[in-house]
Amino acid sequence: MSLSISLTINGARRSIELDDPRVTLLDLLRERLDLTGTKKGCDRGQCGACTVLVDGRRVNSCLALAVSHDGAEVLTIEGLSDGDALHPVQAAFVAHDAFQCGFCTPGQIMSAVGLIAEGQAGDDPERVREAMSGNLCRCAAYKGITEAVLDAQRQMAASGRKEAA
Ligand code: FES
Ligand code: FES
Repeated sequence: MSLSISLTINGARRSIELDDPRVTLLDLLRERLDLTGTKKGCDRGQCGACTVLVDGRRVNSCLALAVSHDGAEVLTIEGLSDGDALHPVQAAFVAHDAFQCGFCTPGQIMSAVGLIAEGQAGDDPERVREAMSGNLCRCAAYKGITEAVLDAQRQMAASGRKEAA
């Protein structure tokens, strides 16, 4: 049995036939659509490497069935920059050395973009750490990640930018 769903991914509408209703959004992105920026770490909702935004909300795509998001808008790391111009969160991660191996970084950045849009972290590093605690970093780049989130948040507030893309 194949199922037909429609997703808007990084601004482009896609009609997709699913052979298996159990396919996760993560596997759909990586294996069917070649959007391999979204990483598979644990594949069980524990590391955050697979974080994408679905209708503006942070989602662990390894736990999300693609079929249950029919009609949704999905934003992945590939859709964040504006051509060669990095998104402010991406630029802040570079400026603050917020990564080492980089494996967790797409998930960290998408989670940070979602967090800033939620407007809940404020200026408090502890709250940022708490709100980003679902995103693990085996390289322990947490100090730079927290600084990058706070910096990006300040810059986006100053420029009046709230939305992701
Ligand atoms: S791969 Fe999804 S949370 Fe780890
Ligand atoms: S930068 Fe290596 S896991 Fe985070």
